[in-house]
Formats: sequence, C-alpha cells, structure tokens
Amino acid sequence: MAKKYLITSALPYINNIPHLGNFIPLLRSDIHVRIKKLQGKDVLYICATDESGTRTEIEAEKKHMTEEQYCKIMHKKFKEILDWFSIDLDYFGRTSSKSNHELTKEIFMDLNKQGYICEKEVTLLYCPDCKRYLPDSYVEGTCPHCKTPGAKGDQCDACSKFINPEELIEPKCKLCGQKPTVKKDKHLFLDLPKFSNKLKKYIEENKNFHGIERNLPLAWIKEGLEPRCISRNLKWGVKIPIKGYEDKVFYVWFDAPIGYIAATKDYCDKNNLNYKDYWQNKDTQIIHFMGKDNVPFHTIIWPSELMSNKKWNLPSRIYSNEFLNYLSGKFSKSNNRGVFCDDVLKLKYNSDTWRFYLSSVLPEGKDSDFEWQEFMDKINNELIANYANFAYRIISIAKRFGEITPLTEEKLNKSEKDILKKIKENIANYLNENTRGNLKEALRNALNVSSLGNQYFQENKPWELIKDDNKKEEANHVLWFSFSILLNVSLLLHPFIPTKTKEIINLIAPGFSINNALKDKKPSIINKNITITEAKPLFAKIEEEEIKELKKKF
Ligand code: 2FM
Ligand code: ZN
Repeated sequence: MAKKYLITSALPYINNIPHLGNFIPLLRSDIHVRIKKLQGKDVLYICATDESGTRTEIEAEKKHMTEEQYCKIMHKKFKEILDWFSIDLDYFGRTSSKSNHELTKEIFMDLNKQGYICEKEVTLLYCPDCKRYLPDSYVEGTCPHCKTPGAKGDQCDACSKFINPEELIEPKCKLCGQKPTVKKDKHLFLDLPKFSNKLKKYIEENKNFHGIERNLPLAWIKEGLEPRCISRNLKWGVKIPIKGYEDKVFYVWFDAPIGYIAATKDYCDKNNLNYKDYWQNKDTQIIHFMGKDNVPFHTIIWPSELMSNKKWNLPSRIYSNEFLNYLSGKFSKSNNRGVFCDDVLKLKYNSDTWRFYLSSVLPEGKDSDFEWQEFMDKINNELIANYANFAYRIISIAKRFGEITPLTEEKLNKSEKDILKKIKENIANYLNENTRGNLKEALRNALNVSSLGNQYFQENKPWELIKDDNKKEEANHVLWFSFSILLNVSLLLHPFIPTKTKEIINLIAPGFSINNALKDKKPSIINKNITITEAKPLFAKIEEEEIKELKKKF
C-alpha cells in the first residue's frame, strides 16, 4: 500500500487571533502539503482550534458569553481567516468536540491503567481578589531555572523550561496584579520519568528528527524528566473521568494534541473513512508543523501520551520554525504592534501577496523580521519583476499573435534542452528542500526557473518575431517554449501563491492537472494549442506612499 501522510499545524488557541508570526506554521504546513500533492502523495491535512483552558473561561466572561458561545464565534472567525489565506485544510476541527473529549478520556484511562499516572498533593496559587486558581498563563513571575522575570506559570520563554506555577519566584496574578495565596490540593501527574527510556530510543532511532527536535528532548531526558501535572481546577475543558476529580478538567496541553486525532476522526466519519488508517496503520506518517516553543510538548508529552497503548502511531517528523518578529520586536495586540491576521483581511493586498512575502522571509534556521520596506521590495522586485511580468509579457504577445500550436521535445534546440535540464535540477532541489523543511529555499528554486524563463524570452525577442510574416514558425516556437517554462514556474510557485498560479495554469494549459505534476520530478511541456484572448497584469505594484501609510498605521 502506498504511504499516506497525516499533516498537521499546531492548534491555535481559540482566544488569540493569530499575528503573522503565529501564522507561520499554518503557512509552512500548507505549502508543504501542496508540494506533496504536486508529487502525487496521499495527504490528509488537518488542524483545529485549541479551546480548553483558563484563557477561554476569562475571555468568555469578559464578553458575557458562555464558553460554548464564545468558542463557536471565534472558531468561525478563524475559519474565515484560514479560508482567506487559502490554507487548504481537509478539516478544521475543535478540541471541544465530542470526539476529542472521548479520545482524551480513552487515552487517559489507558495511561492510568498502565500505571503512568500518579497523584500528588500540590500547592496552588489562588488569587483571593479574582476568586480563582491561577494556572499557567495567568500568573507571572521570575523563572526558577534561569531567573528571568516575566516567566509564565507553565513555561519560561527565555530558557523554554517547564515550570509548575507554584515554583515561580515572586508570583503575581496577571489579571489584578495581586500576590496570590497558596492552597493545597490533590492533582494528577503524567509520570514522565517512566517514559524516559522509551522516549530516548524513539528519538534516537528516528532519523527524521533533526536540530532542536532531536537535541532538546534528548537533553531534557538526560537531565531527568519530572512528573507533569495534567489536571486543573477549572470547569471548561475535558472532565477527568475518575472519582475525586469531578470538579477538575485536564490541563489544556493534555487534550490539545489529542485534538489532532479527534479532528482526523471527525473528518473520516464525515467521509466514510476510518481514522485508524491514519493513526494506527504503520504505513501512515504523522508530520507536525509548529513554532519552536511547542517542541517540548510535541517531543516529550505528546509521544508519552501516545505510548499509553502500542496501537498509536508516533510522530514521524516535526518541522518547527523559529520566530518571525515585527520590526525586530515582539508582536503585541495590546500595544497595537504588528500585523494580525484579521488586519490583513482589511488591507488591499490579496492573499497571494501576503503568502509570497511571508514565504520569502520564513524564520527557518533563524528568527526573521517583518519589515514594510522589504514587503514592498519582495513584491515589486521578485514577485512582480520576476514572475508576474514574465507571465504578463508572454500572454500579451500571444494575444497579438493568435493561436499557438504545440511542438514536441525533438524540436528543441540545444539551449532549450539546456533550460529543461536546469529546470529539472531546480525541481530536484525544490523537492529536497521541501523534505528538509527549507521552504524559503524551495521558493528560491522556483524563482530560479522564472529567471531562466525571463532570460530565454529576452534573448529570443518574440515581440519582434511576431511582426515578421516570414518568422511565424519561429515566433510560434519561442512562444510555445516560453509558455512551457511559465507552466513549470507556475507549478513550482503554486504551493506559495495558489490563486494566481492556478489562474495562469488554467489559462495556458486548460485541463492540466496540478496534482501529480511533479510525480516524475520532470519538467512539464505544453502539448495543446494555446489561445489567449485577454491579458491583464497579475499584481499591482506597491507604491512608496502606501508603505508610509502602513508604517504609520501599524
Ligand atoms: O502554542 C499554542 O498555540 C498551542 N495552542 C498549540 C497546541 S498544538 C497541539 F498540540 F494541539
Ligand atoms: Zn527560564
């Protein structure tokens, strides 16, 4: 049986509209999935909103809504954003779904039965002013490990180590600023030390784990893992199905990754498929995309949850990204700093424009910055100058010329054969870079092919050939070959800018199937007549004035 791929993007928290930095895993996973589809691979692409937890309770309360009402509205907003950006998910689920509640309980019960859950008395922070326990994100203090101030109750951003809220030095309630009091209560823990050996073996033996995805968990295991608290004193979330825990729910990070399985199940149930073909059949590879801060959860907690029962597939690969910053600083909704996805929908640029810019500055290997000047430069000097103008020029000339008849490969001259050879090399590199998670590099390869096309077009001057009645055949040849190069560029750019490239492909090669186009890793050649009746520019150039306005606004 052919290998299947289940590809996911980290589940976004329901209560934060993502900024462009948060959007990176969604964009990268979408590009990766689209490239896999060009290769003819069998891919299921899923995501969901991450809805449990304190943040949801607090945001719903602020808006005088129930958690259900609030999550429903927010989920719809997220869906609109994803659709606008052409994030082509097969299914966008919710962790509040029935399936996630059931699967979470099932996985927990398996873990419990096999002795992987322990109970401990803990001291918790309770804010007498707000009358609530302060887990995770609602308490802030100095990190007990690296002593950096501003650490959250569950993880320190500076050293990325896990923290139990009560370990914070000088804790403060983030809602009211008061010092919380301490209460004692019984809680459930995932007994991580019991997984140490299995986790170590799993990571060491998996050749697909590189960089931080390999080094971070191995270093933590070496240091010694500690049991991790997985219950919380909240009402909103997945209820804990054992006696004595009726008034508690699971920690959001316990049920969130199980949301990957639940969303797969919901998709499969709707489409008459079996989710076990993805999660229990060893021929399926599970691939996760996420920001680097999510790596500890996905390489330690998540595989441990799945090890409750040998039946589950473990992640085969993790592609994490570094951070995209805004003008060298952090994005912040409260300080009106940076561009958020809902802002983007209100601006005049289409989704391809945003996708192209973000793809060309992806934080892969190191952090990168969003810069307005660079936004303009990348669009004007690369997207438009290299690709869009190339397309527009050939299309305009072809419109004047009339019907173009296709030729076969035997008719190619030496320099054209060389071009095909170079396209083939770029395709090979493009696919390799995609496998390695270097999508910014894959984009480079696509643009290289566009440069080859521009050069060919410039050297062969079809605009002159079409004026000479004796050179009709030559003009036909040059236009046909230029269109064939354009087809290849458009295919390679399709995962990055799906909307315009699809329009171009439909125009110059109607009926051409984008899926499978790179199955043989070979360039494609147009083999049907081409008739162009209309030519218009693909993108509008961005003017300095617009950038000045945007800089002011954001
Ligand atoms: O960091 C975050 O935004 C989390 N909501 C990611 C969850 S990913 C998963 F495991 F569900
Ligand atoms: Zn720290």
